[in-house]
Amino acid sequence: MMRIKIYVPPIKTQGIKTKLVESIIDQINFEIKGKWIEPFMGSGVVGFNLRPKRAIFADKNPHIINFYNAIKNREITSQKVRIFLEREGKKLLEKGEKYYYEVRNRFNKYHDPLDFLFLNRSCFNGVIRFNSKGEFNTPFGRKPDRFRKAYITKIVNQVRYAGECIHKYDWIFIAQDFRKTIKEANENDVIYCDPPYIGRHTNYFDIWTEKDEYDLYKLLSNFKGKFILSTWYKNKYRENKFIKRFWNKFSIITRNHFYHVGGREINRNPMIEALVLNFELNNIKGQQKHRRKTDESQISLFEFGS
Ligand SMILES: C[S@@+](CC[C@H](N)C(=O)[O-])C[C@H]1O[C@@H](n2cnc3c(N)ncnc32)[C@H](O)[C@@H]1O
Repeated sequence: MMRIKIYVPPIKTQGIKTKLVESIIDQINFEIKGKWIEPFMGSGVVGFNLRPKRAIFADKNPHIINFYNAIKNREITSQKVRIFLEREGKKLLEKGEKYYYEVRNRFNKYHDPLDFLFLNRSCFNGVIRFNSKGEFNTPFGRKPDRFRKAYITKIVNQVRYAGECIHKYDWIFIAQDFRKTIKEANENDVIYCDPPYIGRHTNYFDIWTEKDEYDLYKLLSNFKGKFILSTWYKNKYRENKFIKRFWNKFSIITRNHFYHVGGREINRNPMIEALVLNFELNNIKGQQKHRRKTDESQISLFEFGS
């Protein structure tokens, strides 16, 4: 497995794949002739580290997309982020919790991407959660001194790096449902899907249903190019029944991962993550390459490096 320095993007999302980036990128040992496509962008950490020449980052959550489009059209720069966070961070320190909720109300009225950054980096556990009216409703992370100098510099550097990539490469950010994104892909494209995990209670922009999982399965099964899907395999309590139902006809790689999201005990236990691929696996821990199997009884499961 190659060793790379992992870049963490400025907007954090639950289910961020920071710890899996290397293993995912390890599988891309071929030239991407078309576009790299992430129908469930979230933080975009995989694409930001792979740095493809052409990419589409899509997500149903328009606030994530607005933030990156604001960097793209230079409404947001690392300098502006520094000035904004220094000013707002000072107010948070002076007024405490009350100020967090002021910014939250302001964001829910005007949807300013800088306010979204402020909330994302000072809310409880970095959880992005919206109520049924589409209002951001994650409570305060209870750290009035959140925006200390070093933390601001960290975020500013994350924004600078994101900006460098966005201005160097041909990347598109678009708010849309995954069905549209996948339908528009062509056989030279490579799709990386990281949908909300089915059967687990995560606080995503919207919920993920069996119908969504089925639609995703159908679209990816018919897709002529290469795809990689992140999903969960099992934890101490249960298995992901959709592995057997849908995904078993593809190659699957598994890996233990500690999952932090959610107040519920079940969501904080170690779980086995799965990568589902419709192409030949790259070497895993020096093992030989394995062909994609179509017969369920022959499915190969490989543990990949920790
Ligand atoms: C698990 S997160 C992606 C995490 C990302 N790969 C990362 O490493 O940060 C799932 C994302 O899917 C988005 N999403 C949920 N339902 C969607 C849908 N129907 N179409 C497109 N995006 C959706 C959520 O807003 C969320 O950002």
